[in-house]
Amino acid sequence: MTSHLMENYAAPVVTFVKGNGTVLIDSEGNEYLDFLCGLSVTSLGHNRPEVTKAIQEQAATLSHVSNLFDHPQRQAVASLINDLLVDAGGRSGKVFFCNSGAEANECALKLARKARPGKHVVLTTLNSFHGRTLATLAATGQPEKQMVFAPMPEGFEHIAFGDLQAMEERLSVGDVAAVLVEVIQAEGGVNTPPIGYLPGLQEACRKVDALFMIDEVQTGLGRTGQWFGFQDENLAPDVVTLAKALGNGIPVGACWALDGVAAAFKPGDHGSTFGGQPLALAAAKATLETMIDLDAPALAHEASEQLRAGLLDLPGVTGVRGRGLILGAELNADIAKEVTQEALAAGVVVNAVRPNVIRCMPPLTVSADEIHEALRRLHAAMTKVHEQAGGE
Ligand SMILES: Cc1ncc(COP(=O)(O)O)c(C=O)c1O
Repeated sequence: MTSHLMENYAAPVVTFVKGNGTVLIDSEGNEYLDFLCGLSVTSLGHNRPEVTKAIQEQAATLSHVSNLFDHPQRQAVASLINDLLVDAGGRSGKVFFCNSGAEANECALKLARKARPGKHVVLTTLNSFHGRTLATLAATGQPEKQMVFAPMPEGFEHIAFGDLQAMEERLSVGDVAAVLVEVIQAEGGVNTPPIGYLPGLQEACRKVDALFMIDEVQTGLGRTGQWFGFQDENLAPDVVTLAKALGNGIPVGACWALDGVAAAFKPGDHGSTFGGQPLALAAAKATLETMIDLDAPALAHEASEQLRAGLLDLPGVTGVRGRGLILGAELNADIAKEVTQEALAAGVVVNAVRPNVIRCMPPLTVSADEIHEALRRLHAAMTKVHEQAGGE
C-alpha cells in the first residue's frame, strides 16, 4: 500500500492497537511491557480509568471552545499546577496552556523577550532538547539537528552542560534575557549535571536579572521521584514548562511563570486555538488529581531502586544514569539500537538515546512484578545481542 505519510520518522516496525496499564498489545495480539510510555507521556499507564472517564464525559459534554470564552477546567487546572509548583518551590505564578512541549518552551522564549526588554539572548546547554519548532530547535543544543534548516532564528547560544563558569561569564555580558535548562538532559542521553551546577546557575541568573527557566517537559510530574526534577536541589525557577505526562496521552502543555514575569504578556501577545480547550484540560485535571491521590512521585521513587539495581545486573551494563523512573543504562559497546530491537522482539519497549545508552521510563504505577519481568526480557535481549556480536 502506498504510504501518504511524510518520511520524517523512521519506518515503524510494530503497530500498537491497545494498551492497559503498563501493557501494550500489537495488531497481531502480542503483548509488550511499555517501559517508554510514549516518551514519558503515559505516566499513569495506558487507559487509566479516571482519565478515560474524564475524557469520555467531557467529550459528551463540551469538547472545545475558543480562548475568547471561559470554561470551568481552565482555572481548575491552572490552580492545580500552580499549587504543585508553590508546594515545590514556594512562589506563585500563572499558566499559559498549549498542546506540546515545544509550544510550552516557545511561550517561555517569547515571555523572556517580553519580560526582559532590551535583552534578547537565551542561553541553553549543549546536548539539550527543547523541541522541533524553529525557535525551540534553535534553543536545542544539537547543531546536527539544526544544520539543514539554517538559518536559525537569532539570539540562542549553547554552553556545555555542567560548565557553570562559562555560563557565569556569558551572563555577565548583560544581554541575556533567560537561561533555559533541563534538570536531566533526557533526549541528550539521560545526563545529570554535577551537584551545585543548577543552584549556581540560578544564582548567576539572579545576579544579572536573567530569567531562570526550567524545561520539565520530560522530567516533570513525578518522573524523577519528586513532582519536579528541580526539587532535588531546592531550586526556585522563574519559569517552568510542562507537557508530556500532563494529559496522560492527550496533547496538552503548559508554561508557568512567576506572577511578575507572567504579567509581561498582555492580551494579544500570545495564544493557541486548541491550547487549554476543555477536552485536553479534562484529561489534565483527571491526570493531576489521580497523580495526587496516588502520590505518583513517591511510587516512582520506590520503584526506582528495583529498576536501577536490576539494570546494573544486566550483561554488558556498566552504569545507570538518571533518577526516579527516568533511567539510562550505559552499555559496554555501541549496541543500544540492536538491544532496543531485540528488546522489542522479546516484548519490552525501551529506546536508544545514545549509541551506548538505552532509556527506561515505565509508568510511575509500574508494579514490582512488571519490573522483574521487563528485566528478564531485557536480559534475554542483551544476551542475544552479545552472542551475535561475539559470533561475528
Ligand atoms: C525536555 C524536552 N523539552 C521539549 C520537548 C518537546 O516536546 P514536544 O515533542 O511535545 O514538542 C521534549 C520532547 O521530547 C523534551 O524532552
